[in-house]
Amino acid sequence: MFPSFEGQCAVITGGASGIGKETALVLAERGASVLVLADRQQEAAEQAAAEIEQATGRRCLPARLDVADPASVEALFQFVTAECGDLHILVNGAGVCPYLPIEEVDAERWDRTVDINLRGSFLCAREAFKRMKPRRFGKIVNIASVAARIGGLASGVDYVASKGGVVSMTYSFAKAGTPFGINVNGVAPGVIATPLSAAQEYPPGTIIGQARDVANVIAFLASEDARHVQGCTIDVTGGLYMH
Ligand SMILES: NC(=O)c1ccc[n+]([C@@H]2O[C@H](COP(=O)([O-])OP(=O)(O)OC[C@H]3O[C@@H](n4cnc5c(N)ncnc54)[C@H](O)[C@@H]3O)[C@@H](O)[C@H]2O)c1
Repeated sequence: MFPSFEGQCAVITGGASGIGKETALVLAERGASVLVLADRQQEAAEQAAAEIEQATGRRCLPARLDVADPASVEALFQFVTAECGDLHILVNGAGVCPYLPIEEVDAERWDRTVDINLRGSFLCAREAFKRMKPRRFGKIVNIASVAARIGGLASGVDYVASKGGVVSMTYSFAKAGTPFGINVNGVAPGVIATPLSAAQEYPPGTIIGQARDVANVIAFLASEDARHVQGCTIDVTGGLYMH
């Protein structure tokens, strides 16, 4: 039996698609009471929320979010507080995976990728942390990438650095969260079949997993079964990367 998320509120950024959407579905299937799917793609978030609500009977709310915009992040968390009261789980799933050769990555491209993948994850985790700390309970799960371990497969230096930053940031939040009963962990997926990876080219024979393979590990990290797991980024690569 999996532990139940009954009575819990979960925010999933990037929840309109791929790993984020599948994670919302798993959390809803396991009893989460309210799910907030926060995404830049408003219509897709609305559709995903309707699908999950219909499939599980759980309350699922779409919310417009641009993680690169601090005001948008703040507005999201005000909405979450108004709709849910307490926040129990944050999954930082919003991300982009651009590829350009190193010589072509200019300052603007670098900033854009880092603003979404790293600073956006930080801003959301910070807002969640503020709300979880007084309650002495919370689960934050960040999505890094195998790219942070191996220098990228089909991703640029900006992406690799942003995901390396997510791994390091996870340690920092975990350290700060430990005295307050807040678990902060991450996953580092390999290649997973989603719209993001469909736009990339991988070497023939590359091992490819499904969004559910990652969502199940995120759900574990968000559960009390993982209460003694802290600051860990779990590789979910099907053997593409091992250490
Ligand atoms: N698919 C893979 O192979 C793979 C591998 C390693 C890591 N990841 C990571 O997993 C996470 C989820 O990716 P996915 O594969 O499910 O991709 P996806 O494209 O299906 O989902 C990403 C979601 O993030 C949203 N998003 C992008 N920029 C945003 C912004 N500024 N504000 C709010 N939302 C934004 C998109 O609209 C999309 O719905 C990403 O962080 C990605 O880097 C994916």
